[in-house]
Amino acid sequence: MPKTALLKLDEKEYPLPVLEGTEGEKAIDTRTLRAASGYIAYDQGYGNTGSCESNITYLDGENGVLRHRGYPIEQLAHYSDFVETAYLIIYGELPNPAQRKEFGQRLRRNSPVEMQMQKILEGFPTAASPMAMLSAMMSALPAYYPELATNNFEKDLRNFDMAAAIAISKIRTMVAMIYRYTHGLPFVFPKRDLPFCDNFLHMMFSDPYQDYEPVAEVSKALNLVLLLHADHEQNCSTSTVRMVGSSAANLFASISAGISALSGPLHGGANVAVMQMLQSIHDEGDDGTRFIAAAKSGSKSKRLMGFGHAVYKNFDPRARIIGEACDTLLKRLGIDDPLLHIAKKLEEAALKDEYFITRKLYPNVDFYSGIIMRAIGVPMNMFTTLFAIGRSPGYIANWREVASNPKGRIYRPRQIYMGATQRDYVPLNQRT
Ligand code: ACO
Repeated sequence: MPKTALLKLDEKEYPLPVLEGTEGEKAIDTRTLRAASGYIAYDQGYGNTGSCESNITYLDGENGVLRHRGYPIEQLAHYSDFVETAYLIIYGELPNPAQRKEFGQRLRRNSPVEMQMQKILEGFPTAASPMAMLSAMMSALPAYYPELATNNFEKDLRNFDMAAAIAISKIRTMVAMIYRYTHGLPFVFPKRDLPFCDNFLHMMFSDPYQDYEPVAEVSKALNLVLLLHADHEQNCSTSTVRMVGSSAANLFASISAGISALSGPLHGGANVAVMQMLQSIHDEGDDGTRFIAAAKSGSKSKRLMGFGHAVYKNFDPRARIIGEACDTLLKRLGIDDPLLHIAKKLEEAALKDEYFITRKLYPNVDFYSGIIMRAIGVPMNMFTTLFAIGRSPGYIANWREVASNPKGRIYRPRQIYMGATQRDYVPLNQRT
């Protein structure tokens, strides 16, 4: 017998179906509520609203659990790599050797970015936001692949495998191009024989006379950073991808919207905000003590960046993994980064502090990811673009779920109107 919730309102009763996910998450289905009662469910920011059913990622914020297609993030971080995890997230299963090989080849074949696209970049001032450039380049892709990006779900799904490979592979090339352009350096073409992360490092750091020499520790750390960002349930940018995709917009247009959502400092831009915070603490000669005291004021502008999470209220499992990887990488490369010392001090102090304990504020994935990227040689203004490369499999898998849902409908929330009630228009010459 299916479970039902009973809502009593104005002396009337409304039975509402109860849904249960495979991991026991429960939800009250309010889809019929407005038609039956005239009421809508109000949930500013959607913090308590399930916007979809999904088979991709399971996240239990209270217990610090994150699994992609059932596989714990700890196991993927330990045994897998970014490309394999991307396949898993997009296609639902770990690839067998033939599938892994074919996927790798598909990515390699699609790594170059069309020459004309350089012109899009060159239209930007070199000091422009790399995320704005990335979003613009991604939104231009449909123009180069009209047969894959028709804004018709049926047709776009037929060409999904190719579009997915283009999106993941080219977003990486675009990020490298943006780096070269903003630093006044000539573009470096991808090489077919290099693995995904080494190819990215080659396009970023090779110069005309000397190819970048891959360093195993650096490739491993980059792989991990990308893998840990590969998907994260219905976060702000992934929900944006789903929302835009629900209008039957093509994959590239939907990802471009996701990149814009990711650019904000409360989301993907947090890794930059963390580094700016650490740098200013360092520049002011503070060891973190003064900053922690100020962060407790409740002012949004003084928050301890890289701490707290909208859903993790215990710990962010990715933060543990990345914190350890950060230590390992810096030791192996022999880097003594004063910002790492400050970060450790902040973490230690905050985890003992009543303010942070009672509000369940713990380090999130961004707290250490910036220090790793800095050690790799990625400048701060490019950090969020690397997050976007990492998150691309999640965007793609979520777009596909929306596009292939036969019962799907356009995302269209409602609101509670709080503005002026009806009034009559006053001509300009009669207004004071
Ligand atoms: N530093 C100090 N105080 C904080 C912080 C912080 N980083 N985060 C939350 N608080 C406080 C709030 O002031 C509030 O206090 P109050 O109850 O006394 O009013 C309480 O904790 C709850 O804060 P909310 O904003 O309601 O928490 P929410 O879960 O909505 O926000 C968010 C989560 C946006 C991530 C927040 O913790 C934050 O701004 N953190 C810093 C930015 C950051 O690191 N973002 C990255 C997120 S991870 C990602 O996108 C990959």
